[in-house]
Amino acid sequence: MVERTLSIIKPDCVAAKNAGKVISMLEENGFNIIGMKKIHLTKKQAKKFYIVHKDRPFYDSLTDFMSEGPIVVMVLEKENAIADYRKLMGATNPEEAEEGTIRKLYGSNIERNAVHGSDSEESANYEIKFFFNELELV
Ligand code: TYD
Repeated sequence: MVERTLSIIKPDCVAAKNAGKVISMLEENGFNIIGMKKIHLTKKQAKKFYIVHKDRPFYDSLTDFMSEGPIVVMVLEKENAIADYRKLMGATNPEEAEEGTIRKLYGSNIERNAVHGSDSEESANYEIKFFFNELELV
């Protein structure tokens, strides 16, 4: 089934000038980038995006990080996009991520882990609508 998922290149990865390399990896792995923008979230917007984590101990620190600099937000489309992109990202903690994954290559620690990807169809729908309207997806 052709699926859509939301991808974010996080502030650490953009600041390190690794965004282009991540985008190349996406294209090489068969993802069609059907929407893309570079934005700088406010703390308030980051808190809204990560609302599912509001009761977790890392919520405040995570949303500080996600609002510290620009990010690149993309909608990816392909067969099985949600699971395939999670696989390409690697484990949340870069130290535990498989060789060759984006987080292994470009992540620093469990918080500054280079990229985000939707974890289910339900979150993909919420996250895509958070950043894009249908006219922006081509
Ligand atoms: P989570 O949804 O568990 O991971 P993933 O991004 O792999 O779906 O957590 C969301 C983000 O929260 C994660 O990418 C980094 C941050 N985070 C921390 O800063 N500390 C933690 O202990 C965890 C579990 C996550």
